[in-house]
Amino acid sequence: MQHRTKAPEADALVGERYEVEVGPVAHGGHCVARHEGQVLFVRHALPGERVIAEVTEGGPDSRFLRADAVEILQASPDRVEAPCPFSGPGKCGGCDWQHAAPGAQRRLKVQVITEQLERLGGLTPQEAGWDGTVEPAPGDKVAKGEVPAWRTRVQYAVDADGHAGLRRHRSHEVERIDRCLIAAPGVSELGVESRDWPGIATVEAISATGSSDRQVIITPRPGGRLPIVELDRPVSVMRVDEQGGVHRVHGRGFVRERADDRTWRVGSGGFWQVHPMAAELLVEAVMQGLTPRKGETALDLYCGVGLFAGALAERVGETGAVLGIESGKRAVEDARHNLGDLDRVRIEQGKVETVLPRTGITEADLVVLDPPRTGAGHATVRHVASLGPRRIAYVACDPAALARDLRWFGEAGYVPRRMRAFDLFPMTHHVECVVILEPAPKSS
Ligand SMILES: C[S@@+](CC[C@H](N)C(=O)[O-])C[C@H]1O[C@@H](n2cnc3c(N)ncnc32)[C@H](O)[C@@H]1O
Repeated sequence: MQHRTKAPEADALVGERYEVEVGPVAHGGHCVARHEGQVLFVRHALPGERVIAEVTEGGPDSRFLRADAVEILQASPDRVEAPCPFSGPGKCGGCDWQHAAPGAQRRLKVQVITEQLERLGGLTPQEAGWDGTVEPAPGDKVAKGEVPAWRTRVQYAVDADGHAGLRRHRSHEVERIDRCLIAAPGVSELGVESRDWPGIATVEAISATGSSDRQVIITPRPGGRLPIVELDRPVSVMRVDEQGGVHRVHGRGFVRERADDRTWRVGSGGFWQVHPMAAELLVEAVMQGLTPRKGETALDLYCGVGLFAGALAERVGETGAVLGIESGKRAVEDARHNLGDLDRVRIEQGKVETVLPRTGITEADLVVLDPPRTGAGHATVRHVASLGPRRIAYVACDPAALARDLRWFGEAGYVPRRMRAFDLFPMTHHVECVVILEPAPKSS
């Protein structure tokens, strides 16, 4: 069942099968094909393949159709047998590239970033300061057919019979699984899939990297009762109420992570990078790019539990100052707790777009932006540029939002100097980029 309100004719072509030549990859985990002039976004395909594509969404008047490759007539050399038995047309929607060799997945991400930078940002890879590679995280360089177990947080959906699984692509239906191959060992060991969850809608399982902390966050269905949780390991348990509030049932209300030689408290619902190497890798890339100096002032926008604010504060030293801004109340409490020993750090709660103008700050030496998937937006980009920073680090989990914001940075007088891209979400279409910007050279 797809939970969308559409006129019946809007999906009139669902189930139709077309033989198509698969074109380039597009942002979102699919490839572009055409049938009688209409564009199809085809999942489970690879560029250059000839496939039978079955329409999953759309009708004759749709701007484009969505489809699954259900039969591969001519396979790409990059194709592998999907290691996960729950991946494939109509099945689990968690991974996009199970059927592509690991190196090929990264090449697809290179093509997507390149296309987004050019189309939305007006930048070539050279102009972005990018060497055109997506770097695997250390330890993730696996052979064909192997899968890195990187996901330290997995959100399971529970079906009407109380079985935990993962959602199908663009659907509320649950694909029952007995194991998720990309789940980190600490998540798999909890055994969420092997017990029943009657009356429960979702179970999020978290395995901290920097400690042995494990947590499950349970959302009961309306009127559902919280079960007595007996998992295969000791865990802390949290419950989500009908308004989205998170409450402690037993154990700690947070997990402890490690990065940049610090322990970070991350409360339930607070953001922490999912790949176990991500926080360390991103701090390293951002600090290498910014090269903070003693006594400098720095901003950490969208600071979460304070990761970059802490790293900046250590490097600008006692004569420097760092301001973090974050909208999540619990994350702000954690950031203040995590950085309580550094009195040169201040954390403000609220949206960057409202809090930053209110601070009255007129200049900063360094700025880190790590916005959500929607990006920072025009007003924030302009505001950041108006502070005249020596360098800006933009950490991006969506290449389209990044490219749009880079165009605005260009208009505001900032150009990318160096960009790196990291495969912090193997088997999926997601990718993380770090761009270092500087003031554009003054034309004489
Ligand atoms: C990608 S996370 C980055 C967190 C942190 N830099 C880290 O690496 O752990 C984005 C953060 O921005 C916060 N956020 C989302 N929209 C925001 C806004 N408009 N203003 C401030 N913070 C926001 C989210 O709560 C989340 O903590």
